[in-house]
Amino acid sequence: MVRFIVRFLFAGKADMASTSNFDERAKTWDLDPAKVERALAVAGAIRTQVPLSTRMRALEYGCGTGLLGFALQSDLGHIDLADTSSGMLAVLNEKIEAAHAGNMRTMKLDLTVDSLPSQRYDLVFSMMAFHHIADIDRLLRSLHALFAAHGHLCVADLDAEDGSFHGAGFTGHNGFDRDDLKRRSIAAGFRNVRFSTAFHITKNDSPGQTDFPIFLMVAEK
Ligand SMILES: C[S@@+](CC[C@H](N)C(=O)[O-])C[C@H]1O[C@@H](n2cnc3c(N)ncnc32)[C@H](O)[C@@H]1O
Repeated sequence: MVRFIVRFLFAGKADMASTSNFDERAKTWDLDPAKVERALAVAGAIRTQVPLSTRMRALEYGCGTGLLGFALQSDLGHIDLADTSSGMLAVLNEKIEAAHAGNMRTMKLDLTVDSLPSQRYDLVFSMMAFHHIADIDRLLRSLHALFAAHGHLCVADLDAEDGSFHGAGFTGHNGFDRDDLKRRSIAAGFRNVRFSTAFHITKNDSPGQTDFPIFLMVAEK
């Protein structure tokens, strides 16, 4: 397994986030090389775990500026990219237009609140979004309902950490225990749930934990 170590140029600020400030952070999101490297590493890990095809219709959930979606664009037939942040989606729409990416379409969507869209997918992927979403059980049930007869869910996110990743005041999940997330995914209807480590983030200025592994969970419907 290749181990990726990234030293944040913007240590302490790189992923310090509440969901409310994603709009204002959208314009500079892609300027952080660590985020781009993370997306490329997770895309590579997905390619090794799931047989991708240009016949597939995919959804990226919590897409931000679509770094992961763009990394997988040529592997897939069509990608819908969903997020709750208007700022992120505005930047992503500009990127899609500039790249003439005719197989990518954005959606403003919160699956923990909104009703399900009518489209069904062969693949759903998500990177660093789950830890910002309180009701993971509802999210997993909604994602399960969005698949066609069979498909793969790929979730890349933080392993359980001591809270230093975002620091004081963060109200989301301090990463996820793999066994617990597996149990929740199975309860939502998924099967063949497995984990690998796709990436590592290093924060040298952290008062606590400095190494933050990023898992890739693959689950099947
Ligand atoms: C840390 S950013 C990750 C963005 C992108 N996936 C990346 O890794 O570069 C988390 C993203 O999740 C989005 N988000 C937060 N809560 C959400 C929800 N309930 N549904 C969909 N997206 C959500 C935020 O707007 C933000 O774009």
